[in-house]
Amino acid sequence: MSGDVHTPRSGLDHSPLRLGILVSGRGSNFQAIQKAIDSGDLAARVVVVVSNRPGVLAIARAETIDIPIAVHERRDFPSRHDRDQEIVKTLREHDVELVVSAGYSAVISAAAVEAYRDRIINIHPSLLPAFAGGMAPKPQTAALRAGVKISGCTVHFVTDGVDSGPIIAQAAVPVLDDDTPASLASRILEEEHLLLPLAIGWLGEGILKIRNGRVRGCPATAGSISRASIS
Ligand code: GRF
Repeated sequence: MSGDVHTPRSGLDHSPLRLGILVSGRGSNFQAIQKAIDSGDLAARVVVVVSNRPGVLAIARAETIDIPIAVHERRDFPSRHDRDQEIVKTLREHDVELVVSAGYSAVISAAAVEAYRDRIINIHPSLLPAFAGGMAPKPQTAALRAGVKISGCTVHFVTDGVDSGPIIAQAAVPVLDDDTPASLASRILEEEHLLLPLAIGWLGEGILKIRNGRVRGCPATAGSISRASIS
């Protein structure tokens, strides 16, 4: 990525941003996005939920509100590339503008990243670039082992590398002496539920741009969000 990339909108389109959500499990971030939409805080619409695992809670959540669901399991395709091509087809069929990887356990293949370049974001439960890779409790366990005093979550664009795309927003939480991976994960998750809808909103408003691999235009100073600046 070099030069300025405006993503995923120019700011001239005021219709709700069409979201495709990638999930693999609990779906609490998906639920937070839907809640922000329902309350009028986020001008978006979830047009499809795509899971790589059948029978997960995220799918049940989508069913209760009649959102189209697609399940594309790796074992049903000869390769990850083929599975991801099917996912791209599903996203296109639903005219998805922004893909949100929200607790999605698979690495997205290069061709799928290219098909939605600068239009796929992910949330990761650490302050990247620290403790990249893996799902809970791996990043939280790594943070505790390292003895860091602050951790948090990061929303970033998805590129070919794992958890290494341009950072859109971060929220920090304290790490406490008696934290376990579960207690730290739960404190971080509260911030995820605020940060992800906020970042999606900025993308929908077309106020962010990527210049030389860095995201510019975040409303909060230094691109770092605290509870005080969200409320
Ligand atoms: C979150 O901690 C997210 O950061 C990570 O996976 C977890 C998903 O949680 N990528 P949920 O499925 O949204 O409840």
